[in-house]
Amino acid sequence: MQTLDAIKGRTSIRAFLPTPIPQETIAQLLDAARWAPSGSNRQNWRVTVATGAPLQRLVERMDERVRRHQPDMSNAAKEKPEVRQGLQTLRAGLTELAEAQGKSLWEFIVRGSYRFFDAPVMLAVSHRGQNAANVATFVTTMLLAAHDMGLGTIWLGYPLGASDLIVEELGIPEDEKVRAIVALGYPDPGSPAATFRSSRDEVETCTRWVGFEE
Ligand SMILES: Cc1cc2nc3c(=O)[nH]c(=O)nc-3n(C[C@H](O)[C@H](O)[C@H](O)COP(=O)(O)O)c2cc1C
Repeated sequence: MQTLDAIKGRTSIRAFLPTPIPQETIAQLLDAARWAPSGSNRQNWRVTVATGAPLQRLVERMDERVRRHQPDMSNAAKEKPEVRQGLQTLRAGLTELAEAQGKSLWEFIVRGSYRFFDAPVMLAVSHRGQNAANVATFVTTMLLAAHDMGLGTIWLGYPLGASDLIVEELGIPEDEKVRAIVALGYPDPGSPAATFRSSRDEVETCTRWVGFEE
């Protein structure tokens, strides 16, 4: 796959097949992700990969937590108007997907995120030391590599609200901070939640050209 095709073709997957992913395949994915750039080449990301019974146990505890605390998704009002617009467009699309499954938006997105969308594999990406930005380069590279390999992913922020459970269940060392969760699996081809495409602003919306008309 060409790099630009991978960049433009990757989408977040919110419906996975239960098919397990072989450890070698995940190792191959991480072998690609480790080539991400990092400040001073620190490579200070750490990845905890969970599947099977330990993941199931974590999902049960996450689900219990999300149902008890009901974290809300009403942060749109606090955002600047231009951000709010992007959020509202996304929300409209996701609401349609939720309704098609007979779920509320909260149940589909927040509860679904806490359950890692029932993917057969979840990765918790943590970092050591100061530079958390390196986690973003690592995760982005991993999402693109996964897409190239025919695997589906979604980067999840909501479950960080229960990172204490993630740390405890997966035995993540105390000197690491979990910054990103990624659900990984084969996309469910029969579900619209695996083919949903979000929109993007035009280049001019986010670009300031300097010195090009001299
Ligand atoms: C830092 C970050 C956190 C995210 N957290 C969630 C989440 O908790 N739940 C969710 O459904 N999607 C989450 N997403 C996915 C975004 O909604 C998605 O990337 C965005 O709408 C663009 O869609 P696309 O990835 O399909 O291109 C997150 C993405 C990022 C980068």
